[in-house]
Amino acid sequence: MLYIGVDLGTSAVKLLLMDGAGKVLNIVSREYPLSFPKPGWSEQKPEDWYRESMDGIKELIKDFDKSEVAGISFGGQMHGLVVLDAQDNVIRPAILWNDGRTTKETDYLNQVIGTAKLSEYTANIAFTGFTAPKILWMKENEPELFAKIEKIMLPKDYIAYKLSGVHCTDVSDASGMLLFDVKNRCWSKEMCDICGITTDKLAKIFESYEVVGTVLPEVAAELGIPATCKVIAGAGDNAAAAVGTGTVGDGNCNISLGTSGTIFISSKNFGVDSFNALHAFAHADGKYHLMGCMLSAASCNKWWMDEIIGTKDYAAEQKAIEKLGENHVYFLPYLMGERSPINDPLARGTFIGLTMDSTRADMTQAVLEGVGFALRDSFEVAKALGIKIERTKICGGGAKSPLWKKMIANILNVKVDVIESEEGPALGGAILAAVGCGEYESVEAAAAKLVKIVDTVEPDAELVAKYEERYQQFKEIYPACKELFKKIQ
Ligand code: XUL
Repeated sequence: MLYIGVDLGTSAVKLLLMDGAGKVLNIVSREYPLSFPKPGWSEQKPEDWYRESMDGIKELIKDFDKSEVAGISFGGQMHGLVVLDAQDNVIRPAILWNDGRTTKETDYLNQVIGTAKLSEYTANIAFTGFTAPKILWMKENEPELFAKIEKIMLPKDYIAYKLSGVHCTDVSDASGMLLFDVKNRCWSKEMCDICGITTDKLAKIFESYEVVGTVLPEVAAELGIPATCKVIAGAGDNAAAAVGTGTVGDGNCNISLGTSGTIFISSKNFGVDSFNALHAFAHADGKYHLMGCMLSAASCNKWWMDEIIGTKDYAAEQKAIEKLGENHVYFLPYLMGERSPINDPLARGTFIGLTMDSTRADMTQAVLEGVGFALRDSFEVAKALGIKIERTKICGGGAKSPLWKKMIANILNVKVDVIESEEGPALGGAILAAVGCGEYESVEAAAAKLVKIVDTVEPDAELVAKYEERYQQFKEIYPACKELFKKIQ
């Protein structure tokens, strides 16, 4: 049997074909536009996602036995607001996870409703990228469009709906809406009231490995796959990546260096971060996780390479970096504001410490290190909660860089386990599909069987000490700039 994993990302959709034994047979990627209509805003068209996903699936399976395709599942960019009218047409472009327009609504939720209540109802507080503040924003700023809303969906769930005809979501992705009671794995009536919606506007909830339905006959015909092919709920991209890297069960860690950067800690028990800096979400393995999310990670390097120095040869730029741990240039990676742990949509990207002898390589290094230091900020919160992390998996586009992995291992002082396939969410999606189709008895059993560690990057004591000193300096930069960021908007 064959299984398709769809990773609906921010810069592209990645599609992965896996056989029942976990062998990755093919990977296809298709880009779509991302628009920033105003500073700090971030939108995409759900129609683009669907078109590219369908074309991508066709390309993915064209040289394989299509009659063998048994299941499709997903990892998807989280938190995005997709709104459908009574005819299931998209009402406006989706407002994405890294969109910072909702400062007013987020302040209202955190300060007027209050973080204690939000945490009681959902296990989380409000962040600008979460879905509930976006609903409030639409209600206030686009009342005519708001009045048309019949269904509120998340990005990957829109694709699942188009494939199966079922308005569905899964527990991990629903957790990031601030409308979901994470502990009890159901919608929060209180949060729906606060947002001025009824629960029937929300999708039906599934565990990530549960079958939502089968593909619609017209979809089966278009793709040339059997009409019995199952659609499995899937997960938010971080939970799917965790499945794809075997970060399931209790106390395991995964770092994702994608457009966003996340630290993901799996847990068998429900728990809330008392500092409200890490998200407490349901996991795709049927349990829970804590997660810190920075809004710009590999995207900082992409911005620096593509937009600023104008090159596509990332490896050549990284080859010029020689003095690890000794750079006196620092970079704050807050190009889209920042979520975890500082929760400041007004924070901005910043180089500091430049001198006349600073080189292009120093600045490239500062960008990579700045992302590492900002990840460490979330890591420190986890440590303060008493969580011990000695090793982590890693995935995402940034994980392809040996240098960046070395930096992460030494900045965080952890062993970084490299797995055979770094295709985190797409592989996780395919694994969830296989579990949903009964190929494996549980997500944990599938991950244990399918995920293989091929290398480990060990931290080096001398470099750890150098990075420790630099991290202490890095930590002082944001507080020193914070008030200024407010003034320069
Ligand atoms: C997680 C988050 C991001 C997106 C990126 O909370 O906002 O990791 O899911 O796709």
